[in-house]
Amino acid sequence: MKLTEKLALKALHKLDPEVAHGLSIKALTSGLAPCPGPVRSPRLKCDIAGITLDNPVGLAAGFDKNAEALAPLSQAGFGFIEVGAATPRPQPGNPKPRLFRLSEDRAAINRFGFNNDGMEVIAERLAKRPKTGVIGLNLGANKDSDDRAADFARVLARCGAFLDFATVNVSSPNTEKLRDLQGKAALSALLNGVIETRDSLDRRVPIFLKIAPDLDRAGIEDIAAVALDTGIDGVIATNTTLSREGLHSPHRAEAGGLSGAPLFEASTRVLAQLSDLLRDQVPLIGVGGIGNAEQAYAKICAGASAVQLYTAMVYGGLSLAAEIAQELDHLLACDGFDCVAAAVGTKRGDWL
Ligand code: FNR
Repeated sequence: MKLTEKLALKALHKLDPEVAHGLSIKALTSGLAPCPGPVRSPRLKCDIAGITLDNPVGLAAGFDKNAEALAPLSQAGFGFIEVGAATPRPQPGNPKPRLFRLSEDRAAINRFGFNNDGMEVIAERLAKRPKTGVIGLNLGANKDSDDRAADFARVLARCGAFLDFATVNVSSPNTEKLRDLQGKAALSALLNGVIETRDSLDRRVPIFLKIAPDLDRAGIEDIAAVALDTGIDGVIATNTTLSREGLHSPHRAEAGGLSGAPLFEASTRVLAQLSDLLRDQVPLIGVGGIGNAEQAYAKICAGASAVQLYTAMVYGGLSLAAEIAQELDHLLACDGFDCVAAAVGTKRGDWL
């Protein structure tokens, strides 16, 4: 990290976390944040669900909820970016404060509750997206919807033409009863509806499912079965956790989803279990607590074909993505892998 970015982060950490986040998005859109350009190498180039990535390090959903910084984020070193969550109608989300920094734990707790500008505004921004770069959208449901399952398909129908992939997010802990949609029957019906909508689009947009880290073994087995039955294109493991194990920060008792360093082990265990059940039939994206290249590599060796991160950037800055991708290239080379795919799942057993 450069000195200017270090100083900027120090100043941001003196502000309310949500205000600081808004300023980071502004810094990106006004060209003040570091955008080193794509990180590429023959070893890092990879494929997930038919999408070619320059490198396997992606931006997780929730950072650019409203697709405001598509152009600068596409130049920030990520191999792919996921924006959203977008819901059919705009909604304000939960009352503030709703985002907390847990600096002592290198973590965050958020209870945003899908605050976003709604699919119409977001679709207009996506329509002006850069042609290069891989951009996906996290699909959400309105809090007061009378058919939440249908909301996911509605957002896809409106935005699908501008997307390289879309993610069904039934794993946010901040919309009451949303996680109930992870049950086998409800989830199959929801995904079949989304896939039907996808099949009506002019382009085939890969559909990913994002799951919670708090699923038990039976829940993970259900997800694996539904993934195979419905033919979705990938699973993203995982979203934030409700667990508060091992935290030290004063904000540790705040309600919401916990992300960052303390999530790493639990989310990697869920990833490995899913990888063990699915083997190579459905590709996985590993997310949760990645703060350095070793952890990104560990997720790949546990079964992820690509990874995403968010919270570590609160502490390590936006330049972290490019640093992790470059260092990952080195780690793969040291272990004799000539591509990312060769390393996927090679240490799955360590996490089972
Ligand atoms: C998130 N995350 C998230 N996930 C999602 O599927 N839809 C969303 O809208 C959001 N919103 C969101 C907001 C904030 C403030 C945070 C910190 C996180 C979850 C995120 O994409 C990721 O799955 C987790 O944060 C775990 O990864 P990290 O942050 O530990 O790298």
